[in-house]
Amino acid sequence: MVSVLFVCLGNICRSPMAEGIFLKILEREHKTALFEIDSAGLLGYHQGELPDSRMRYHAGKRGYLLTHRSRPFSRRDFDRFDIIVGMDDQNIAGLKQQAMTLEEDAKIVRMTDYCRNIEATHVPDPYYGGDQGFENVIDLLEDACEGLFEELVRSKKF
Ligand code: 4NP
Repeated sequence: MVSVLFVCLGNICRSPMAEGIFLKILEREHKTALFEIDSAGLLGYHQGELPDSRMRYHAGKRGYLLTHRSRPFSRRDFDRFDIIVGMDDQNIAGLKQQAMTLEEDAKIVRMTDYCRNIEATHVPDPYYGGDQGFENVIDLLEDACEGLFEELVRSKKF
């Protein structure tokens, strides 16, 4: 069993989208039972909310149904998850600030490091932007999630 936690700022756009994409890959590959997937935000402002309606709209156009409810990241997540995936510099810094051991720190990775086709350093926050920002988030996350899945298969972590 491998556990993966996707983390962004609000947990209403990027990380629930990443969770939805990764879950769909697992379904396609018949590997759902081998993984635990979740997402969380560094802010608690949106706790309990469904993903942003614009994110759900763009997700729906590509066949993803997002049902996650926003929750804040907790230090306990370092125990619960093998891999903690941040979307941008701010997310990575916020996570690293909370890591208390080298082992915890080593669990933190960057989503775009797994991109195979699109060159990017981070998944930009789409919250204050327009439609294209949300489409861009999905493009990046589809690419990166495929790369992350392949990497986990290759490293035989499960
Ligand atoms: P996310 O986007 O981190 O991709 O979920 C955001 C959503 C809400 C806020 C910031 C980013 N906010 O400040 O409320």
